[in-house]
Amino acid sequence: MKCEIKKNSNAWWVGGVDWNLRDFHGYTTERGSTYNAYLIVDEKIALVDTVKYYLVDELIERVKEVVDPASIDYIISNHTEMDHSGGLTRLAALCPKAKILASANGVKNLSRHFPSLQVTAVADGETLSLGRSTVSFHYEQMVHWPDNMATYHRESKILFSNDAFGQHIASAERFDDEYNGGVLMEEAAKYYANIVWPYGAQVQKVLTALGTLAIDIIAPSHGIIWRSMIADIMKKYWQWARNETKNTAVITYDTMWQSTALLAKALMRGLEDAGVPTTIYNAAVTPSSDIITAALEAKIIAVGSSTLNNNMLPTVAGFLTYLKGLAPKNRTGFAFGSYGWGGQAPKQIHEMLAALEWSLPVDALRVQFIPTEADIERAREAGRALAASIQG
Ligand code: FEO
Repeated sequence: MKCEIKKNSNAWWVGGVDWNLRDFHGYTTERGSTYNAYLIVDEKIALVDTVKYYLVDELIERVKEVVDPASIDYIISNHTEMDHSGGLTRLAALCPKAKILASANGVKNLSRHFPSLQVTAVADGETLSLGRSTVSFHYEQMVHWPDNMATYHRESKILFSNDAFGQHIASAERFDDEYNGGVLMEEAAKYYANIVWPYGAQVQKVLTALGTLAIDIIAPSHGIIWRSMIADIMKKYWQWARNETKNTAVITYDTMWQSTALLAKALMRGLEDAGVPTTIYNAAVTPSSDIITAALEAKIIAVGSSTLNNNMLPTVAGFLTYLKGLAPKNRTGFAFGSYGWGGQAPKQIHEMLAALEWSLPVDALRVQFIPTEADIERAREAGRALAASIQG
């Protein structure tokens, strides 16, 4: 079914819906995803981005509902990552007169992915006339690759923002006012936490630059198109990019014989005693990408593990490796765990959190075997102390 993004814009959604996607390089995608491509039809015709390789036929079918692919004059590649460039060589073959455009870094990246393609660089701020309307190109460097850029269609005030403002959602609905707003914001947060979080400074630069544009619609490269909730998502992006937190806590742990679990729950009670809302996840059953999403706005992040063969449990190590990559700043951390002998895990966790330059106001808590009542009280007191440290 043809989908014009805005009445009389002659800008069309022609993307692919990945209903069955459940994993996006380690990020769990319970709601699937879309790879949004867009077609701007004027005297000249431009296709903005393509789709993952296995959905190219779907893209081509949608393009054909609007125009003959051979009539496309430009293919704008806002980003090289293959969920958006996977259809480029097929499209290039179908659109013999199309000039492929990308950012300067996009040209470099695309030449490594698809050496046979001729790609022309566009500069940050450059404009391109399509006839009655004009597009301009706006670099979004490191949001989240060096090559990302947005394309802005001036006359319709549509910003094709690429990964920025995206969410992994497969849906029949295309627009925010047709979809569940709560779920949409939750998925936008998950996307930010797992894909964009390390680049807060760059996001702020991009938001400032995009702030000079009059925007009626934000059409990202994944998920739902924003037209009624633009102020909401902009506000959230500013908040996340500035790394603003709430006085809340996230505890994640894994446990061999429930002793570390008992400590985790006592810690939670201590935090809650002091009025800090706390969520708790067993890393053995909760994907890291979900724990990270919960951590996006939390000031306190506590991590616990039993000690197994002189190490933390692999589930916790996996989470910490993921966390290290995203490297959230300005958090308060805490390490804890039960052990039989050795008891290295809490110290290892403490060191990993220290390497993130977090505040660690309470020493790592180590408890041998099953926590006694006194040990439970120590964990609870640790929670109260952590709460006090953020409440000033
Ligand atoms: Fe959706 Fe960075 O690719």
